Amino acid sequence: MAVGSFKIPGDIVFGEGSFEHLANLEGKKAIIVTGGSSMKRFGFLEKAEEILKKGGFEVKIFEGVEENPSVETVIAGKEAMLEFEPDWIIALGGGSPLDAAKIMWTFYEYPEMTFDELLNAPAFPKLRNKARLACIPSTSGTASEITAFSVITDTANHIKYPLASPEIVADVAIIDPIIPAKMPKHITANTGMDVLAHATEALVSSAASDYTDALAIHAIKLVFANLKTAYEEPDNIYARERMHNASAMAGMAFTSASLGLVHSLAHKVGGEFGITHGLANAILMPYIVQFNRKASNKVDLIEKELGIEDYPKAIKELNLSLNIPLSLKEVTDFGLNNEAKWNEVIDRMSANAYADPCTLTNPRESNPEIVKMIYNHAYNGEDILD
Ligand SMILES: [Fe+2]
Repeated sequence: MAVGSFKIPGDIVFGEGSFEHLANLEGKKAIIVTGGSSMKRFGFLEKAEEILKKGGFEVKIFEGVEENPSVETVIAGKEAMLEFEPDWIIALGGGSPLDAAKIMWTFYEYPEMTFDELLNAPAFPKLRNKARLACIPSTSGTASEITAFSVITDTANHIKYPLASPEIVADVAIIDPIIPAKMPKHITANTGMDVLAHATEALVSSAASDYTDALAIHAIKLVFANLKTAYEEPDNIYARERMHNASAMAGMAFTSASLGLVHSLAHKVGGEFGITHGLANAILMPYIVQFNRKASNKVDLIEKELGIEDYPKAIKELNLSLNIPLSLKEVTDFGLNNEAKWNEVIDRMSANAYADPCTLTNPRESNPEIVKMIYNHAYNGEDILD
């Protein structure tokens, strides 16, 4: 392999009670960036404010970051930061507020820069002249607290822009299992399967390394040992903590090794039908592992490590235990059971999925026709045998 690099947050503070680490940050002013209402409803927003104040911070709150955060929200966050002049940005919530905070921070540091200029910049601008970033995730899934990625949506033109730079890796990630313990069951299931997809795809990726392999394998083991328990027993803090750590470890793996066809196909079926990201990954994954195993002996490695005979079958069994169907057409929401619509969009969706950047690091070569074949097998729940 060519020269590789591996970038993760400088400080990863984990375990029950790690939320309190906020009081140890060194600074004077902190802005908390958060989403809709759940962090407030469960008291975590108030608690973050209280801990920061205990640490001597003046605190401002920017709330209401929506799912799929927009350019407008990012600009509103920048304005709030320019007015308050924080030296710490505290992102609290799911992937959306964390992603948004990374780019609000970028524009707070470079207020004259436009979104278009950022997209077209030859290199991502250097941050940390005004502030640093701490991320506290409320779901065990996207791992935005770890990764160098942010997805911002141009809502007017329905375009999602993935931004990537080591500059937007958080300075501090706080992985406290108390926070995701409030996730509803179906979100626990979907986000947990997203973690499994991150770890599986990072492991088989053509950009994998010894460093990412170690993290990915352990994350897979943690998911198989704990996701079902976290789903069935929401208050089981042991299982919640293992899943929260698995999410962060899978994040460390895929931020360097990237992903593969599971994510390419999930992104585009999500774009066409609006199916939840983790749910799409969960259903697609067994079929793509079947397809990839001809090109990667890493699937054998997973089977050896887990002590099982058939990894795709094990993923399907895990799906069933989480009440996730085995085929896309069995998903009753999002219009996926409308076969006529499926047939209408399949060619476009396959071409777009093939063009997704995640396809580049999939271990087995494909083309739009192959992607279509995979989509149709996953739609009908038919195994891919060669
Ligand atoms: Fe994902």
